[in-house]
Amino acid sequence: MKFFLDTANVDEIKRINDLGLCDGVTTNPSIINKEGRDFEEVVKEICQIVDGPVSAEVTSYEYEDMVEEARKLSKWADNIIVKIPMTEEGLKAIKTLSEEGIKTNCTLIFSLSQGIMAMKAGATFISPFMGRVDDMGESGKKLIENLRKVIDIYGYDSEIIVASIRHNKHLEEAALAGAHIATIPGKLFDKLWTHPLTTAGIEAFKKDWEAFENR
Ligand code: G3P
Repeated sequence: MKFFLDTANVDEIKRINDLGLCDGVTTNPSIINKEGRDFEEVVKEICQIVDGPVSAEVTSYEYEDMVEEARKLSKWADNIIVKIPMTEEGLKAIKTLSEEGIKTNCTLIFSLSQGIMAMKAGATFISPFMGRVDDMGESGKKLIENLRKVIDIYGYDSEIIVASIRHNKHLEEAALAGAHIATIPGKLFDKLWTHPLTTAGIEAFKKDWEAFENR
């Protein structure tokens, strides 16, 4: 399973990339807005830090505008993935861009049928929003399982990036459901490898070792 970081915070990205655990980055207009930096400048900087795919989202919603914007974004770096929202115009844009060899990430997916449409249009990645699906009282895990099932049955090339991951359980469920990638907010990352019993165990071992050495 690959880990992407769902952030545009360059310090967070550098730290986790240095751990060797960052396979890519996803951004969206809300994430970019949080950093308060120039869109092009921050995306280009992230693309230099990280070897893997970096998603940058279009901000227009009409087919022609999206395609034009996507062509421009794709030239910013070799590892840019153009994020396109799941709309009729978006599907049309994904189809055109995939024919031009521009990689896309179809975002804001909340149902299996939306996912299938994005795969069929040729999206390189599809982004179901696990937390927001759970918020609707439905099962994000089931959606990921079903998306994976369809990919395996029909041999679609699209990879699933699970987005809107809010806590450890979401990550664990995404892994068990067969997601190719989880995109994780920087804030959550450290919670994935920490556990109070691990901390307590280390403290106890340290104390006992000190007692042993002072005998
Ligand atoms: O990648 C999408 C993510 O940023 C949205 O998360 O928690 O607002 O549903 P959330």
